[in-house]
Order: sequence, then structure tokens, then C-alpha cells
Amino acid sequence: MTRAVILGTGSCLPERIMTNADLEKIVETSDSWIFSRTGISERRIAGPGEHIHKVAAQAARRALDAAQLTPADLDLIVLATVSPHMTMPSTACFVQAELEASNAFAYDISAACAGFTYGIDLASKYIYAQPDMKVLVIGAENLSTRLNWQDRNTCVLFGDGAGAAVLSGERGGDRGILGAKLSSDGKLWRLLYTEGAPSMNKDLQLPDWKGPFIQMNGSELFKNAVRLMEGAVKELLAQHQLAISDIDLMIPHQANIRIINNLKERLAVPEDKVFTNLNRYGNTSSASIPIALDEACREGRIRRGDLVLMCTFGAGLTWGALLLRW
Ligand code: UT7
Repeated sequence: MTRAVILGTGSCLPERIMTNADLEKIVETSDSWIFSRTGISERRIAGPGEHIHKVAAQAARRALDAAQLTPADLDLIVLATVSPHMTMPSTACFVQAELEASNAFAYDISAACAGFTYGIDLASKYIYAQPDMKVLVIGAENLSTRLNWQDRNTCVLFGDGAGAAVLSGERGGDRGILGAKLSSDGKLWRLLYTEGAPSMNKDLQLPDWKGPFIQMNGSELFKNAVRLMEGAVKELLAQHQLAISDIDLMIPHQANIRIINNLKERLAVPEDKVFTNLNRYGNTSSASIPIALDEACREGRIRRGDLVLMCTFGAGLTWGALLLRW
């Protein structure tokens, strides 16, 4: 049997660090409120020249180096984002040009915080059909451009950054993407959305347009996030006849440490098997899992043969869990 294997990971964060103390000067908030409610201490904010495709391309170069491949080896680039700098063309095409990956076709996917996990699932299916394909999956966000910096409910939560993974097929053996349980519920879109500019179609314009910024119902999202990720993980493990004790490392979406702790308790995952870094980066949406995956690899938290579980949740709603043998 052929499975898609992650050959290398990379990440890139903008240089500028914005601390909770910096935010105290912008909105009515405090370091203690932000840290105690979310677990976030600081986040990265892209500066001049740190365009989303440049940060994404740098993450991709690091993933290619780790995989000992060059951009010319790539057949496909899938980039997950909800903060592209243009509606068209796709950010993936800008990354393709930046890398000079001239043999690859490239496109974006939009699944908010679940975007990278959806992208890995997509890549694994291409590779199942064509085992020699080399697929680059990127999660990249420039959410600081989508925030209302006067809205303390949202501006303290998010950050910019990118993470990437290169995959290809491996025949035989037990390594690779084992499976995913992905879901969506579009009826709950109002819990988290960015309308962008008012719709050109008057019938679709929201009567209460609040600008091109992220709008969020935090407490409802919180409850859904814990419940839905727990369900996805349990279903996926059952499908593969695995128990939570079989997992070597869980990499959850980095939105709120209280969501992660709730999930950890409900699933009974020990503390040392959960990877977190949101204290340093905040919620980077589709970039959160690939940045965490890359850091976990580089810190030696994932070894050959380990069973890794990703679980994710975001706007859409979109959510899911993915299992892989490293
Ligand atoms: O990435 C995918 C999806 N995103 C999520 O999953 C996010 C899920 N939600 C959350 O992480 C949490 O709900 C939040 C961190 C957004 C909010 O935490 P909470 O404990 O649910 O707080 P809350 O919304 O119930 O607000 C409590 C209070 C409110 O004041 P009142 O109405 O009780 O007087 C807010 O106005 O906290 C106030 N508040 C703040 N105070 C200081 C909201 N934001 C801030 C702030 N600083 N930045």
C-alpha cells in the first residue's frame, strides 16, 4: 500500500513581536486578561515587505531543505489561507513564482483554521493516486490586516505566520497519513466570519456590515470547538481501532489554551503529549498547526514511528482530526 509521507517541514514568522503590554496601549485590555483567558503572551505582526507569499515561500524553502528537495521537484502547491493579499490570483501562485517552482501547479484552499489539515488530506489523496508526486502544503496568514484594532474581542487573539510540509508517496511500511475525519457546518458561519468588502450583490449584503474585519462570537465558538474536536478525534481513533493511549503527540489548533486544556481533559491525554506554542504566536489560523508541527519536529518531540494526531477547528464551521505515523 502507498501512503503519503511528510518528508520535511518548515515555518517562518514575521520579525515584529507584539506583546500583551503593547496591546494595552492600543485597546482597553490587560496582559492578565489576555493571558488568563487565552494563554497568549505575544504574537507576530507582519511588517513592510513581509508579504504573506514571501513568509509562506520562506517556510516552504525550509520544508524543502528538510526534505532534501528543490522547488523544481514540486508537482503541486496547495496553500491554505483566509487572508490572501489579492482575491485573484491565488497566493499559491505567488509562492510558486517566488520559489520558481516551475513544474508545479498551484492553488489556494479556504477552510480557515482547518485549512492545513484539509490540505494534508487533499495531498494524501493525490499521492495515493500518483505516488511519485511531490506536494507542498502551506498554511499562511496575514490576519493582522483583517483585524479591527479597536475591537478588543478579536485584535488580541490573532497573529501572522506560515508553516509548510512537503509530502510524497512511500510504498510498503507503516509510515504516513493514516486517515482523517473532516467535517463542516455552514449553518454556523455567523460564529466567525470576515465579510471583506460589502458584497457587490445587494441581495447578499449584510444589513449590519462592520467593515472588512474578523467578527466572532467567542463563547459559542469555544463550546463548539471543544465538543466537535473531541467527537472528531474519538471517531477517527475508533475507525483505526486505536486508543488515545496509542498517541505519541497531539498537535491541536492553537486558538486558546483553555480550549486545548478542556480537550486534553475530555480525551484524557497526558500534558506531555500535547504540543502548544500559542503563548508566542497567538491564533495564526491555518498556519497554527504547521508552525507547531515544524517546531515539534525541530525540538525532537516527534521521532520516527510516532503516532501523531492533529485536531483542528475554525470558521465555516470547519473542523477535524488527522492521524499520521511519522
Ligand atoms: O480559531 C478558531 C476559532 N476561534 C476560537 O475558537 C476562539 C474561541 N473563543 C475564545 O477563545 C474565547 O471565547 C475568548 C478568548 C474569545 C473570550 O473569552 P471568554 O472567557 O469566552 O470571554 P467572554 O467573551 O465571555 O467575555 C468576557 C468579558 C466581556 O466583558 P463583560 O461583557 O463580561 O463585561 C468582554 O467584553 O471580557 C471582556 N473582554 C475583554 N476584556 C479585556 C473581551 N475581550 C477583552 C479583552 N480585554 N481583550
